Amino acid sequence: MIVHPSQFPDAVQRQLLDGLRLGQVPPRFLYDGDRQTQKWFAVHRAHSPSRTDTGVQSIYDWAFDESLGQASGRPVCLVGLGCGGGQKDTRFLAKLKSVHPTVDYVPCDVSQAMTRVAREAAAAELPLERIHPLVCDLANAPDLGQLLDGIVPLQTKRVFTFFGMIPNLDPDVILPRLAALLCEGDQLLLSANLAPGDSYRGGVEAVLPQYDNAETCDWLSSFLEGLGVSASTGELRFGIEEVVGLLRIIADFEFSETLQLSVAGESVEFAAGHALCLFFSYRHTQQTLAKYLAKHGLNIAASQIASSGEEGVFRVVRGLVA
Ligand SMILES: C[S@@+](CC[C@H](N)C(=O)[O-])C[C@H]1O[C@@H](n2cnc3c(N)ncnc32)[C@H](O)[C@@H]1O
Repeated sequence: MIVHPSQFPDAVQRQLLDGLRLGQVPPRFLYDGDRQTQKWFAVHRAHSPSRTDTGVQSIYDWAFDESLGQASGRPVCLVGLGCGGGQKDTRFLAKLKSVHPTVDYVPCDVSQAMTRVAREAAAAELPLERIHPLVCDLANAPDLGQLLDGIVPLQTKRVFTFFGMIPNLDPDVILPRLAALLCEGDQLLLSANLAPGDSYRGGVEAVLPQYDNAETCDWLSSFLEGLGVSASTGELRFGIEEVVGLLRIIADFEFSETLQLSVAGESVEFAAGHALCLFFSYRHTQQTLAKYLAKHGLNIAASQIASSGEEGVFRVVRGLVA
């Protein structure tokens, strides 16, 4: 397992402290460690449409099949960016195996526990020596491309997956990184959570219950407890906010009493009435997604939208679509 310097303990603690002082928990901390990983799996099992809606599962299979013809016969490496438990990537690996002579897999996630789970899942399809787990904060690893060059030979074609990640990362931070990673001939498959229906806001309101539920509250509260914040010191609230033309679902914890915490040996104060933003999830329309991708030189070459209208999988290329 390779661990990028963005994940060294000092850098991680500093990021957490800075985020807490700014009132915004960096999303990666919600997935960090075995306990948070288990709690998130419970959310995913109960509420992720990719688990609960066969229509959504089928758009991933469609996207895998559609991308397969692109470079058959050459060695390929699947790089799962934010791989989570690797379930989707593993389904893709099964298909890639059928058309490529050698297949490598780099399960890459900020959570070491997630990369371990993804490695286990992928071992059903690939020998372990072809699986190269990488622990890395994608938002803080401008040298990820060079790191990958050291893991897989340059002549190996790369297919990147970026599933379930668009909601949790600031588009203007992550999209330039993705664009820089893609070399000539590489592919990127990404998924986005969409607002169903004709009204952007109405669609986001319709999916709010997928977030405001017992499993998600348990996952978020468990992060707070890990910090030393008990549920009785405030209230968790879900809502919708607009940020630069995009709507996102948020979960804030509003403190009902002033709390002084010690985090990594430093003191952090939350005043009564202060709200800490714990979670956000951007929802797109197909138009907002295309617009944001294009802003960073990325274009949609193929897309498949679930019949629910709530999720889409997109094959994205850098530059003009052939
Ligand atoms: C919503 S899950 C998606 C998992 C998987 N791709 C899927 O579709 O089932 C988000 C994943 O991104 C990871 N993650 C969040 N922020 C990250 C970051 N800054 N860098 C790398 N991984 C991150 C989390 O640990 C988690 O595994």
